[in-house]
Amino acid sequence: MNYVTLPKTVVLVGLMGCGKTAIGTRLAKQLGVPFFDLDHEIEKALGYSVSEIFERFGEPRFRQAEQDIIIRLLEEKPCILASGGGAFIQDEIRKLIKEKAISVWLNADFETLLERVSRKNTRPLLEQGDKGEILKGLMEKRYPIYRQADIAVNSSNGPHTMVVERVIHTLKHYLGQ
Ligand code: S3P
Repeated sequence: MNYVTLPKTVVLVGLMGCGKTAIGTRLAKQLGVPFFDLDHEIEKALGYSVSEIFERFGEPRFRQAEQDIIIRLLEEKPCILASGGGAFIQDEIRKLIKEKAISVWLNADFETLLERVSRKNTRPLLEQGDKGEILKGLMEKRYPIYRQADIAVNSSNGPHTMVVERVIHTLKHYLGQ
């Protein structure tokens, strides 16, 4: 089995549907380190789902919670952290991740993203119109920023286990192990 020793937390970044949670859970299991999902931690802390937070308190409150909670999570010992798609877009958070973690951009093509996000209605940003159009707009705006991640891995093709192998392989190379 493929393995890498983590000197720092690995933060998975990328657009909704790129597989941050699915890949992150499996990656953490394979490496024997804890897994955290930023959205889930926010939901636990605030006592509402992401959709409810957007609806009741607005997006700025959610973005603030993203910042507060990632600060705490980045103090933990090395782990795998799946961020929400907008977290790395915030300057403060990106700076923090750059300082304290290794960022991995999971990059999937448009068709794959759309197919995956269409299965759920739990993402408030995509509920404001045509999911495909919104996704395209976000790709245009955010890809130049996701590109600033330390590592990029294609997560469009193949089963999750293969993407996990790809991430570990790329991490090993990045870390010189
Ligand atoms: C968001 C992505 C979501 C969640 C929120 C906002 C974004 O997380 O944090 O709905 O701005 O891209 P996922 O990327 O895990 O779906």
